[in-house]
Amino acid sequence: MTVLRLEPREPAAIDPPLLELRRIRAGYDGIEVLHGFDLTVAAGSVVALLGPNGAGKTTALKVIAGQHPASSGDVLLFGHRVNGTAPDRLARSGVCVIPEGRGVFPNLTVRENLWMMTYAGCSRGDVEAIAYHRFPRLAERRDQAAGTLSGGEQQMLAMARGLATRPALLLLDELSMGLAPLVVEDLYAVVAGIAADGVSVVVVEQFADVVLKVADRAAVVVHGRVAHEGTPAHVQALLAEAYLGGTHEGKR
Ligand SMILES: Nc1ncnc2c1ncn2[C@@H]1O[C@H](COP(=O)(O)OP(=O)(O)O)[C@@H](O)[C@H]1O
Ligand SMILES: [Mg+2]
Repeated sequence: MTVLRLEPREPAAIDPPLLELRRIRAGYDGIEVLHGFDLTVAAGSVVALLGPNGAGKTTALKVIAGQHPASSGDVLLFGHRVNGTAPDRLARSGVCVIPEGRGVFPNLTVRENLWMMTYAGCSRGDVEAIAYHRFPRLAERRDQAAGTLSGGEQQMLAMARGLATRPALLLLDELSMGLAPLVVEDLYAVVAGIAADGVSVVVVEQFADVVLKVADRAAVVVHGRVAHEGTPAHVQALLAEAYLGGTHEGKR
């Protein structure tokens, strides 16, 4: 993996977080949708981004990956401000986003989808080895067109393509979209394994239960801001309270 070739200004007493968003504002066509978004991701941790549709979760991931500009605020990667850095440079520095909808090529086979990732600098054999190590099922399906895979297998393929870039930070958008609960649990077990090997993961989820089992921290995004941040247990309790009517005045 190529790391950013910037030197720290001065030796840090403690390692900086892998990723920090500070007061990020961003929008579309002059309409602001992130209104001061703060997030910290420690190296090797899994952070869940929860919250309703339209809250700004995908936009936050795009800002991190350099795919959408922040109008103000700081994106710090390994302690360095990276605002304005091109997405391909961030990708080479270890930032990998798996978009909503997965982005696999349906008419290509599993292996052909994987081979496309050799642009990141590893051989076809390496890309396949990384993929089949995490997802043995893909080895069985290697010569099958990606479009004929199940939804869960397509998500595996999308994740395997991302892992081929040997990321330091994996950004997963709506991993569980349209998948059966058991499949989602399997995918999250792999996410936990990836994190155990030192990769930091930010995962966007609308459904909190499964992701909170593997997350180290969780943040609830509401109207373009992180409204709550804490341990999974803390956030789970907050969500339960909200669903059970905790937002009514009598319960406050
Ligand atoms: N490409 C776009 N052009 C204009 N508005 C957008 C675009 N993408 C998202 N938005 C708007 O930005 C807000 C946040 O969207 P998004 O980040 O996708 O939220 P989430 O991922 O939490 O559902 C929503 O109001 C959405 O309609
Ligand atoms: Mg989204």
